[in-house]
Order: sequence, then C-alpha cells, then structure tokens
Amino acid sequence: MSNTVIIGAQWGDEGKGKIVDMLSAQSRVIVRFHGGNNAGHTIKVNGQETVLHLIPSGILHDNTLCLIGNGVVLDPGTFLEEVDALAGKGIDVSPARLGMSKKVHLIMPYHKSLDKAREAKRASNKIGTTGRGIGPCYEDKAARVGLRAGDVSNPALVREKVRRALLEKNILLRDLYKFDPVDAEATCDELLGFAPRLISYFTDVEQRLHEAAEEGEGVLFEGAQGVHLDIDHGTYPFVTSSNTVAGSAATGSGIGPCAFDRIVGIAKAYTTRVGAGPFPTELLDDTGSYMRAKGAEFGATTGRPRRCGWLDAVVLRASVRLNGLTDIALTKLDVLQNLPELRICVAYMFEGRRIDKLPQEEGALAAVEPVYETLPGFEEDISGCTVFDVLPESVRKYVRRVEECVGVKISIISVGPERTQTIVRS
Ligand code: GDP
Ligand code: IMO
Ligand code: MG
Repeated sequence: MSNTVIIGAQWGDEGKGKIVDMLSAQSRVIVRFHGGNNAGHTIKVNGQETVLHLIPSGILHDNTLCLIGNGVVLDPGTFLEEVDALAGKGIDVSPARLGMSKKVHLIMPYHKSLDKAREAKRASNKIGTTGRGIGPCYEDKAARVGLRAGDVSNPALVREKVRRALLEKNILLRDLYKFDPVDAEATCDELLGFAPRLISYFTDVEQRLHEAAEEGEGVLFEGAQGVHLDIDHGTYPFVTSSNTVAGSAATGSGIGPCAFDRIVGIAKAYTTRVGAGPFPTELLDDTGSYMRAKGAEFGATTGRPRRCGWLDAVVLRASVRLNGLTDIALTKLDVLQNLPELRICVAYMFEGRRIDKLPQEEGALAAVEPVYETLPGFEEDISGCTVFDVLPESVRKYVRRVEECVGVKISIISVGPERTQTIVRS
C-alpha cells in the first residue's frame, strides 16, 4: 500500500473531499494535517450530500480510521457538532474510528472575535477570511501561548492560559476594535464542558501512523485549502495561515518526509477563488456567471459566491513544483459543457514581457495579463462517462493539452459530484 497526499492545487474548493472519499475505498487510515473549519469538503453519495469541516473525508467508508493531526487548528464546539451530525446520519464516529492529536491547537472564542474584528477594521483591503478564527489561532501557536487539545485534561492550566491570553486580547478587542470583550470564566467553563468528549477522542497520531506503516496499510493525507493560499508560497497576504503544500503533511501529522509515495493535486477544470486576492483568469462576465451557476460555486463553509475563471496553467505548474505532484485529479469537467470555446492560460504578460512563472513580488500577480490558448468546447453531457476513451474528442483534447501545459499526468477525471462520477485513467 502507498501513502498518498491529496492537496488542493489552486485556491481551494477543488473537490478534495470527493477525491479523498473516493480514494478512501482503498485506504484504512485518513489524516487531516493542517487548517481548521475554514475548510468545507463536500461528499455526495447516492444523492446525499455531506459537508465536512474538520473530520477527514474518509469517514463515510466503514472500517476507516480518521485522524486529526497536530497541524490542525480545532474549534471544539464545531468538532463536536460535526460528530453529532454524522452520528445523526447513522455514521460510526466512535473513538474507535476517529481520533485527534493532543497537540492540535484549539480555536478559542477570542480567536474568532479577533478574526472578525480585524476584517471589519480593514476597510478596503479585507482578506475575506472565513471568520473562523484560523489566523489568530495560528498566531498564538507561533507566539507559544496557544491552548492545545491535551490541555483540557488540566483545568487549572486551561484557566491560567485563558486568563493570560485575555489580558492582552481584551485590550485589543475592547479598546482598538471596539468589539465586546470575552469573558474568561465563561470561556473556560464552555471548553471544560467539552473536555470529557474531547478527551475520549485523544490518540497518539504519530503512533497510529507508525502502526499503519508496520501493518503495511496505506495512509491518505487530506489537505485543505489550496497551494496558492499557502502562508509562504501563496498570494501573500491573501492567504490562509497554514502551510497548505504537501510538505505540511509530514509536519502536520508527525511522519517523516520520505513517507509519501504519491502526491495528487486536485484541480478544477477551471479556477475559483473565495475571498480577496489576485486572480488573473477571473471572468466577471457571463462565462464566469455560467461557471458559478452550473458548478454551484458557492462556498461550502460560508456560502459566499465563488469567483470563477479559466484554468490557469501557470498556477498549476507552480503547484506541480511546490508539491512534487506525481499526478493531478481534474474535477468538474462536466461544468464546462455548452461553453462555445475553452481557454487555458498558458503564460502571463507582465511589465511588457511574457513570463511563464508566477511573479514573486507582492501585488505583482494582480498586474499580469493572461495569455490564452483557445480550444473547442463541447455540447455532450459527459456526466455519465466512466471511461476516458468515451469522452468527446474535444474534451480529451482539452485534458491532454492541460497535461502538456502542466507537465504531469491527469490520472483522475471527475465529471460530477457523486462518488461514482469519476474516470480513473490507467
Ligand atoms: P473541497 O473543499 O476541495 O473539498 O471542495 P468543495 O466541497 O468546497 O467544493 C467542491 C464542490 O464541487 C462540491 O459541491 C462538490 O460536491 C462538487 N463537485 C466535486 N466534483 C465535482 C464534479 O466533478 N462535477 C461537479 N459538477 N461537481 C463536483
Ligand atoms: P477548502 O479546504 C477556499 C480562504 C478564505 C480567505 C483566505 C483566508 O474547502 O478548500 P482564513 O479563514 O483561512 O483565514 O481565510 O483563505 N479559504 C478558503 N478558500 N477553500 C477553503 O478551504 C478555504 N479556506 C480558507 O476565503 O480568502
Ligand atoms: Mg471547500
């Protein structure tokens, strides 16, 4: 069995949930390694849709072990709500099949307030965060003042950490941002109220991964967000606060960097982005609206309309390099049906020159002009195709051209949200 990392190759919402769910049929262990409930991963099985924010997308298969690694930031209330929602659908979410590292950092109410307060204060230069407290939680982790899941076994430690945190955060909230201060006692009481249930999910994730390796079980590492939202390599400052690249699968789960056999980038057959930030191939016209409507491009976490545009091969080439992608899963190809022509951005014009890589200076990507190649569109309904050779010629041509532009094989093609609407190429 091989260890596979799944990452989003664009700006998130590429269909990672669907592909992780599909590949979970062959993996017993699935682990989330970064991000938090800013993620919204959708899985559709027999017409029933499930959106997961924290729990790995392998949970819908029986006999999988789903783990939340140390790199994740976890909102305890949201986690338990998600557990209860799945249990309500008859899914086994007992600690026998779901576990979290004691090292995950906890998203506290003051992280959410600070996230919202900062966004409200940034008049014209908002990042468009999900408001889930992700950035402030990772800030506290880096500042070495965060609460970790394991702390909830020690109420005195929780109370001391929260008290100290609020000494600073309440000054910011009340005096700088004019937001309501957060009550220390209520915060601790709520968290400690969650403690017994949280504790039941604690596990040694590193040990579980080590055991999986010893037993010859393949592990699926489920990324969130997308490469170009990476805190280092993304379109800074319009990024999330974690490393979203494949390397983060090692640090965020506690496994060595040589453990990975396959690194699959999930890419939409076009591009979307939620929130602010540069997006060279964005379409503000009817074609963009068509993609949004046909692709149901509304955020799985916040419900915001997603910005839509043509596939950007420059962005994908960068993803191949930054992650060492072995192959790509191209999703939502069905959405491009009935567009008279399809475009692929193959390079940019920047300061009068043609460039084929992402510029690195802050703000530069907002100033590039895409250079497009145009290919014929298709009118056929491909949502029932399960074999590549059955796809219309123009669709195969598009897929092959994307492969050429990007430099790695497209091994999986998704033609609909259902688990079964997938083409696996040999
Ligand atoms: P993730 O965050 O990467 O897991 O992606 P999201 O779940 O946020 O967004 C992807 C959306 O596209 C979900 O609503 C999926 O059900 C849907 N989806 C996934 N693959 C396909 C596909 O091939 N075709 C269509 N039409 N929808 C898809
Ligand atoms: P999945 O896993 C799309 C975006 C937000 C915002 C920026 C920072 O479903 O693909 P944050 O709340 O993380 O501080 O917001 O990142 N963002 C996502 N966009 N999909 C996601 O996750 C995202 N998670 C964060 O919209 O622009
Ligand atoms: Mg999503």
